[in-house]
Amino acid sequence: MQILRAPIAISLAAAALGLAACGSSSSESSSTTTAAPATTTSTTTAASAEGEKVFASNCATCHTLAAAGSNGKVGPNLDSIAPDEARVKAIVVNGRGGMPAFADVLTEAQIDEVSAYVADSAGK
Ligand code: HEC
Repeated sequence: MQILRAPIAISLAAAALGLAACGSSSSESSSTTTAAPATTTSTTTAASAEGEKVFASNCATCHTLAAAGSNGKVGPNLDSIAPDEARVKAIVVNGRGGMPAFADVLTEAQIDEVSAYVADSAGK
């Protein structure tokens, strides 16, 4: 488990850099040629940043996902089961057992984003 700590810190830092870079790049569109380090070190896209937010607000309390820095224990560890996008989407839409359905809570776009986010980041 300790081995996981460094990658978590790095990915959180990369995510923070990615968000910061997104926030500032719109206001300084052309004047500076400074290379944004986040774009080379992080694969965070607008969609996955959105998925990350949806995950943090709706899933993190119950699920462990290293990339999101969450350690919920109610549902399965998503890093361990590393589900593909369709599998995440199916349970998020319909729920199962102790897992609530999110069809009436999240928009379809949010469900797509969080499913892609989990599928992309689980097990990493
Ligand atoms: C209230 C706690 C809770 C919340 C909130 C929650 N889950 Fe779950 N989740 C569970 C439980 C419990 C299971 C196991 C369900 C079962 O198999 O009976 C589960 C199972 C899963 C699985 C495994 C599905 C499979 O095929 O085995 C995935 C993927 C998943 N959840 C993703 C999510 C995502 C994404 C969110 C946020 C949109 C979320 N969960 C929110 C409790 C939760």
